[in-house]
Amino acid sequence: MIINVNSEDEMKAFGATLGARLVGGEVIELVGDVGAGKTTLTKGIAAGLAVDDDVQSPSFTISRVYQARDGLTLAHYDFYRLGDAGIMADDLGETAGDEMTVTVVEWGGVVEGVLPIDRLTVTIQATSESERSLSVVAGGEKSRKVEVGL
Ligand SMILES: Nc1ncnc2c1ncn2[C@@H]1O[C@H](COP(=O)(O)OP(=O)(O)O)[C@@H](O)[C@H]1O
Ligand SMILES: [Mg+2]
Repeated sequence: MIINVNSEDEMKAFGATLGARLVGGEVIELVGDVGAGKTTLTKGIAAGLAVDDDVQSPSFTISRVYQARDGLTLAHYDFYRLGDAGIMADDLGETAGDEMTVTVVEWGGVVEGVLPIDRLTVTIQATSESERSLSVVAGGEKSRKVEVGL
C-alpha cells in the first residue's frame, strides 16, 4: 500500500491511525534516509498508543521504552551507524516476541536476522521538503491485520 502525506502533521496523524490499530505483539520496521520522518512517524504511533511521554530519537541510547494504553509498552529502537548490535540484538529479540509490546525499529538492517518475518515495513521517501511517500508492506498475518484498514 502507498500512502502520501503532505506535512509533518499529516505524518503524525497517519502514525496515530496506525498506532490506534495496534493490539500488542506487532513489530514495525521503519526504513528511510536521515530526515525521512521515521522518528516523526514513531511520535504519531506513540500518540495512537496513548503514550504520555515525549518520544525522542533513541539514537544515542539505542532503545527507549514508553508506557502505552491497555498495559502495552512501546519499545523504540534506532540502530543508526551500529556495525554490530551486540546485546541489543538479544534485547530486541525478546521485545519483538512479547505480546504486550509494540516494537518500532529504525535502521534495522544490522538486526535483520532478529526481526520477525511478520512485521510491518514502512519505507519512507521524501518527495519534497514537506511531502513523503510511504510504502507499507505486511510480512505476515499479524501485520496484515494492522495494514488492512489503514
Ligand atoms: N511530511 C513530513 N513527515 C515527516 N517529517 C517531515 C515532513 N515534512 C518535513 N519533515 C521534517 O523532516 C524531519 C524528519 O525528521 P525525523 O522524523 O527525525 O527523521 P528520521 O527519524 O527518519 O531521521 C523533521 O525535521 C520534520 O520536521
Ligand atoms: Mg530517527
